Amino acid sequence: MEVPVIRDRRGTIGVIEPSGMLPFDMKRVYYLFDVATGSSRGAHAHKTLSQLLIAVAGSVVVTLTDGDSESEFLLGDPCVALHIPPGYWRSLSQFSEGCVLLVIASAEYSESDYIRQWEEFIAWRNPH
Ligand code: TYD
Repeated sequence: MEVPVIRDRRGTIGVIEPSGMLPFDMKRVYYLFDVATGSSRGAHAHKTLSQLLIAVAGSVVVTLTDGDSESEFLLGDPCVALHIPPGYWRSLSQFSEGCVLLVIASAEYSESDYIRQWEEFIAWRNPH
């Protein structure tokens, strides 16, 4: 989704407000920075958490899969937010130097919401 911005000749303000514009109620904001060159992050899914990812500086490749099809997104524009609904396995790679990835989340941190094993994710997606 597009992030609303306020531009003038001094620069640009990107605005995220909880009311109306988001696909979920925001409960937490965190950000990734100082990512070591060549490292990958993610490699998990969330059972209920929704997230919006914004590369506010630099760029990163986000790969999403539901267990069947896979999509890859290059995030590198502070005016663009990627919505990740619950139930997607995500991998974050190819962080540029100085990348800062802002994450807006629908809930507070809860380890029990994570699925960190691929086999467990596939079983969770395809219950018998
Ligand atoms: P994790 O979500 O696995 O990181 P990434 O997907 O970026 O690789 O989180 C890494 C560690 O940080 C893990 O031990 C959980 C902890 N953590 C918190 O304690 N609070 C938080 O809000 C987040 C996002 C992670």
